Amino acid sequence: MFTADQTILVTGASSGIGRAIALECIARGARVLACGRNAQRLEQARQAACAPERWTSIQRDFLTDMKDIPHWVRGLAREHGKLWGLAHAAGEGLMDCLQVYGLERARRHFDINFHVPLLLAQGFCDRRASARGGALLFVASASAVFPEKGHLLYGAAKAALAAAAKSISQEVAPRGVRVHCLSPGIVDTPMEAAAEASMGAEYRQNQLQGYPLGFGRPEDVAVMAAFLLSGQAAWITGQNFVLAGGRY
Ligand SMILES: NC(=O)c1ccc[n+]([C@@H]2O[C@H](COP(=O)([O-])OP(=O)(O)OC[C@H]3O[C@@H](n4cnc5c(N)ncnc54)[C@H](OP(=O)(O)O)[C@@H]3O)[C@@H](O)[C@H]2O)c1
Repeated sequence: MFTADQTILVTGASSGIGRAIALECIARGARVLACGRNAQRLEQARQAACAPERWTSIQRDFLTDMKDIPHWVRGLAREHGKLWGLAHAAGEGLMDCLQVYGLERARRHFDINFHVPLLLAQGFCDRRASARGGALLFVASASAVFPEKGHLLYGAAKAALAAAAKSISQEVAPRGVRVHCLSPGIVDTPMEAAAEASMGAEYRQNQLQGYPLGFGRPEDVAVMAAFLLSGQAAWITGQNFVLAGGRY
């Protein structure tokens, strides 16, 4: 699917969906710049890769020095060669509702789940940073399309991201760059485990009833991500794919 000169920057590569995307892209032949905050988890993921020599770990907290993000992405391209892909999976979950809405928390949440992805995209879509034919992929959420009670800010930020992806896809198409959005339903990751811990024991069982094929595994999202990032998806852009085991 990829060759070793196709380098893909994967954010959130230390955990859950981002980790699975990084491992899948390596398994399919790419070189991966794997970004996360936690060095130990990044190293564990690197060791799980089938070709660890094609995995480069990079530590960065995207909420620190946000304005520098586009410059940082261009710097990665200078150091490692033009990027073929950017798969952005880093993000935060949040269970909330209107009753507890507050500006400070809303701004922080939109920073990590909306502004950070756009700053990364801005760096990646610079012609100095990305290769013709390559692709940008955002992991949004099914909440972007089917918002439910308890996903006020989370659903809104992911919906904004999905809308932005569509707009960006039209902006960068003349450069031959594709833009994809994946919107998973519930996937068993540490983020989901934290949501279950905060919502109580019945939450998982209640949610499971809505999933004919059960909850997803990170690998279920990763195979689709790798396909969309690859040249095999050369005629697909601007779409938001909901992956949810028959839930919606
Ligand atoms: N799990 C689900 O059910 C589900 C469903 C739909 C969409 N999603 C979306 O999928 C994406 C990945 O979620 P996940 O379930 O895989 O979560 P996860 O296992 O908690 O992983 C989150 C990743 O994001 C990174 N991250 C968080 N804040 C960061 C920051 N400020 N700077 C840099 N990296 C940061 C974490 O890095 P460290 O580990 O190094 O701290 C980690 O690698 C998220 O955007 C989430 O909204 C998840």
